[in-house]
Amino acid sequence: MNQLDWDKNAVQAVIEGLKDIPGALLPILHGIQDRLGYIPPDSVPLIASALNLSRAEVHGVITFYHYFRETPPGKHTIHICRAESCQSMNSRGLEAHAKAKLGIDYHETTADGDFSLEPVYCLGNCACSPAMTIDGEVYGRVSPERFDEILNEVRAEA
Ligand code: FES
Repeated sequence: MNQLDWDKNAVQAVIEGLKDIPGALLPILHGIQDRLGYIPPDSVPLIASALNLSRAEVHGVITFYHYFRETPPGKHTIHICRAESCQSMNSRGLEAHAKAKLGIDYHETTADGDFSLEPVYCLGNCACSPAMTIDGEVYGRVSPERFDEILNEVRAEA
């Protein structure tokens, strides 16, 4: 689905289902991202209108939390752990390698649309640092060489 083809009905359904609960903005944003994988920019006026907020207020919350995306994610999402245990086991080296290998920074998607890269803060896999996930599957003791192998495995499965 390209960004212009966002599902307005799905967004409206999320808004309608949650707009009357207290503090509805965050649940609505989570609900939309859960449904579509991102929050289409054109959904901002719909959310603002339903909650009686300004577009700037809604947009401000979306951009405040790095978790929220305004562009569609890649086919696969890689999360690299940046928390303490992984840092002590050279997760910085792993993330530098991943960024160079993919040609993207955090919160970006490769040009072919295959991979998005996101930071995460502890995956509960500290004993096997440095850790990362691809589409929720956890990998431990990920060296740059292992990262390349995993990427090749994921590409081969596609
Ligand atoms: S610090 Fe990375 S998994 Fe816990």
